[in-house]
Amino acid sequence: MSRDFEFKQLLRALRSGIISEATFESEMKCLEGGTMTNGNGAGGFTAFGKTYGSERAAVISFLDKVRAGEANGGEAFAAWAQVCTTDCIRSGIRMVAEREAYHARIFGQRLMELGGEQRAGATDEGRKFCAYLGNAAIPDTEKLLKFTQLVGKPEDAIKPICEFAASLKEDVSTKEALRLFAEDELSTAKWLWESCAALNAPKKEAASASM
Ligand SMILES: [Fe+2]
Repeated sequence: MSRDFEFKQLLRALRSGIISEATFESEMKCLEGGTMTNGNGAGGFTAFGKTYGSERAAVISFLDKVRAGEANGGEAFAAWAQVCTTDCIRSGIRMVAEREAYHARIFGQRLMELGGEQRAGATDEGRKFCAYLGNAAIPDTEKLLKFTQLVGKPEDAIKPICEFAASLKEDVSTKEALRLFAEDELSTAKWLWESCAALNAPKKEAASASM
């Protein structure tokens, strides 16, 4: 993100009353100070293999993408809950849907506070995931398997979030929110992995017994 673009974003945020004059001034100072005050090195701020002009720019980019992804996740799990026929996981899936949706709201709010714009939308992949989970013809056991394949090991899945949170030095508000977010995602993924193992086990045993 160019400095000119960041300046325009800040100005827009000030004009629309999203940030106060004091916040605008302090953010401007950071911008004027460039990467020396706002980056994690002389060449900018590096996150997810990309170099951003500043920590703030990296945070804004991340928040926007994760907000869109979580909103999609919220819709997808809510759609699954509606067609879920397995009693023991239905309420848990509703809880996961709420988690995803509230992550999207909190990150959207933080994005606004930083003067960022909601640019990212649902991706093709996200839309497909939503349609898949909402498909009543697909058994819950298969959806659980698909999720575990897609997300991978829970501890590995949250690593990038933890690393990004650890790298933030200035935006402590986002940093702490991301630490909690990682715990939520870990809990969700672990529960879905455990449900997957429990509900798919009898099937596997029956299959091997009939062989
Ligand atoms: Fe999520």
